[in-house]
Amino acid sequence: MITIKTEDEIALMRESCRLLSIVHDEMAEIIKPGISTLDIDRFGESMIAKVGGIPNFKNYQGYPASVCVSVNDEVVHGIPKAERILKEGDIVSLDCGLIYKGYHSDAARTYPVGQASPEALALIEATKQSFFDGIKMAKAGGYLHDISNAIACSLMGNGYDGIVRDLCGHGIGTHLHEEPQIPNYAVSKKGPALKKGMTLAIEPMVAIGTDEVEWLDDDWTVVTADGSWAAHYENTILITEGEPEVLTLGQR
Ligand code: MF3
Ligand code: CO
Repeated sequence: MITIKTEDEIALMRESCRLLSIVHDEMAEIIKPGISTLDIDRFGESMIAKVGGIPNFKNYQGYPASVCVSVNDEVVHGIPKAERILKEGDIVSLDCGLIYKGYHSDAARTYPVGQASPEALALIEATKQSFFDGIKMAKAGGYLHDISNAIACSLMGNGYDGIVRDLCGHGIGTHLHEEPQIPNYAVSKKGPALKKGMTLAIEPMVAIGTDEVEWLDDDWTVVTADGSWAAHYENTILITEGEPEVLTLGQR
C-alpha cells in the first residue's frame, strides 16, 4: 500500500526533510582530502542530534553507522571507517537520513574531493540532472514509471547507460522504506498512479561503466562490477497537483 500523507503529516515530513537538508549542507563543508569516512559519519551523526533528529540508518537491518559514505567505485551503503581516508580527486557519496517526530527523511549527494577529473564531475552532474529531469513527471495524474523513464532517458541522453538496477528509490514516511519501489531504468508498464500527498525518495545511482554491481564481504557496500566510478543523488519529494516539492533540497 502506498501511503497518502495528511496535511499534518506533510508538515512533519517537511520539517524532517528541512532538518536533513541542514545536516547535508554542513557535511558538504567538511569534505576535503585527509578526512576519513568515519570522520564524516561522526560529524553527520552529531549534526543530526544538533538539529533535533534521530539517525534512521543506524541499526537499520544492522547497518552500523548514521551516514553511508561511498567512495569512487562504491555505489551506495559504504560503511564509514577510520582507515578510509579521502584523497584529492576521489568522489564521495553521502547518503543520510533522520527521523523527526516519527517521520523519516532521506537524501544523498556526491561530491568531488578537492579537484576531481572532468569525467568524474560530468558523472556527478548527469546523475543530479537525471533526478531533476525525472521529477518533471512527478505529479498527481501521472504514473510512477513516468518518473523512472524520465530518469533513464536523461541519463542515456547524456551517454550514461550504467544505471544501477539492483537498487531503487522508495516511498518514505513513518518508515524509511515504504511502497512503492521506484526504478531508475525504463519500465514498460505504467506503474501505480501518482497521488497528491505521496512522499517518495527518488535516487538515481549511476556508474560510468557497467550497470552491474556486487556486494562486498561486509554485506553492505555495493560496488560496481567493473570498478568504474559511480554517483548517487537523492531527495525526498512530495507529490502535489502541480510541481513536486523537493523537501530535502538545501544548498545543493
Ligand atoms: N538511503 C538508503 C536507501 O534508501 C538508506 C540505506 S539504509 C542503510 O537505500 F541502512 F544502509 F543505511
Ligand atoms: Co533512499
